[in-house]
Amino acid sequence: MAHLLSTSCSIKLSSSHRPLSQPFRQCPTKCLTFFTLGTSKSPFKRFVLQGGTQQASCVVRATVAPISQETPTQSSSDSRQKSSEPSKPKRVMVIGGDGYCGWATALHLSNKGYEVAIVDSLIRRLFDQQLGLDSLTPIASIHNRLRCWRSVTGKTIELYIGDICDFEFLSETFKSFEPDAVVHFGEQRSAPYSMIDRNRAVFTQHNNVIGTLNVLFAIKEFRDQCHLVKLGTMGEYGTPNIDIEEGYITITHNGRTDTLPFPKQASSFYHLSKVHDSNNIAFTCKAWGIRATDLNQGVVYGVRTDETEMHEELCNRLDYDGVFGTALNRFCVQAAVGHPLTVYGKGGQTRGYLDIRDTVQCVELAIANPAQPGEFRVFNQFTEQFSVNELASLVTKAGEKLGLDVKTISVPNPRVEAEEHYYNAKHTKLIELGLEPHLLSDSLLDSLLNFAIKFKDRVDTKQIMPSVSWKKIGVKPKTLAA
Ligand SMILES: NC(=O)c1ccc[n+]([C@@H]2O[C@H](COP(=O)([O-])OP(=O)(O)OC[C@H]3O[C@@H](n4cnc5c(N)ncnc54)[C@H](O)[C@@H]3O)[C@@H](O)[C@H]2O)c1
Repeated sequence: MAHLLSTSCSIKLSSSHRPLSQPFRQCPTKCLTFFTLGTSKSPFKRFVLQGGTQQASCVVRATVAPISQETPTQSSSDSRQKSSEPSKPKRVMVIGGDGYCGWATALHLSNKGYEVAIVDSLIRRLFDQQLGLDSLTPIASIHNRLRCWRSVTGKTIELYIGDICDFEFLSETFKSFEPDAVVHFGEQRSAPYSMIDRNRAVFTQHNNVIGTLNVLFAIKEFRDQCHLVKLGTMGEYGTPNIDIEEGYITITHNGRTDTLPFPKQASSFYHLSKVHDSNNIAFTCKAWGIRATDLNQGVVYGVRTDETEMHEELCNRLDYDGVFGTALNRFCVQAAVGHPLTVYGKGGQTRGYLDIRDTVQCVELAIANPAQPGEFRVFNQFTEQFSVNELASLVTKAGEKLGLDVKTISVPNPRVEAEEHYYNAKHTKLIELGLEPHLLSDSLLDSLLNFAIKFKDRVDTKQIMPSVSWKKIGVKPKTLAA
């Protein structure tokens, strides 16, 4: 069934804010306003615009592209799930599909023949504006990205722009798209962002915990057989002095044995929000029979996937700044612009890492092999572990081969974390499902470095040093803008 929802409407901005939009109201340089479209049937309930005034007028065009492609073997209505007899998942809602992992995943799933809808509030783009940051790579608007995808491949991805903390909006997207699987990337995902000030800490926990809770309620209410694939993080476990298991550990205590959730020791308000999510999901699997997979993902590196390579307008974002940039991506950009590699403290901090090409593969495997009703399945989603010092040394060697003079400095650690510790995390379950890892190789480092060199003129070196301290967080709203 092809359908086209294209809305063009004049709207009035009102001052009806939600109380937890604090970080946006208090941003000193740019004020932001949430507003609701006046069309009752529109799924596009909430948008975010800039503007400091209480009342303003503007025109918004929101487009849901038509589903023009139907699978040859299954009609669209057949592919819709019946709650007693779940069919092979075909319709996948990617929440957070405009972000780094979500964009690559949405394209990958679409390319593999899934019918895909992206749900995104576009708030990640707004964080950049608020903090004066930008992706290393120029990224097209979500509308141009999707138009380009359709013109390159003939495949359509539906788009719902809105905030999943708004349950009315989320309900409409569920009723309209009827997903068989929901991949939930749609969270505030930076630990430093959550440690800027009280407003950002509260925003992060509200956005992430309530958003996920809404997804759970939407599944229960509208699609009770829908499989939730939720992105968690390896950071939920912290760095215990024992091996990290995949989600559960069997313990014998005072002569009795049980298999229990592996202990969580999160180290930022962001990581804590993921722990709260995991607890809520585990509870609803037990209480309501939700089927869920928690993907405790390691740190993602790289930028290219088969699909984002197809056209420059499909290019993914690559963050290198001290708030959103992650270790290896940051080091490659630092090496490209001649900035010393910024090792925090002693550099013995060890974590699991994976190539973004493996992120999309893991999510596809999780969808194709769904959890059972009532099952809360946990996979550790990474392929190799490295210390920060090991990464710095790999980037130094790869940089030297390209003629770069790469130096490393130790900077005072802005985080509160062990800088030398035991770390050994299991990660076999996705391999058992068929994951074929892209391990970190010289050629990948070369390619990432060359990519960074290509865009080095876009680098704002002022954004490289860490600017958020775990110990100095306070209640006073902070701006990090230059
Ligand atoms: N990038 C990594 O290295 C990494 C590592 C481990 C786990 N993860 C997890 O993977 C997920 C995706 O990470 P990413 O790097 O792609 O992040 P990202 O910030 O690039 O993307 C997140 C997307 O979600 C959207 N979003 C946020 N809150 C929303 C809301 N309330 N409603 C609708 N959309 C919302 C944002 O606009 C953004 O497009 C996150 O949950 C993150 O915790 C990422």
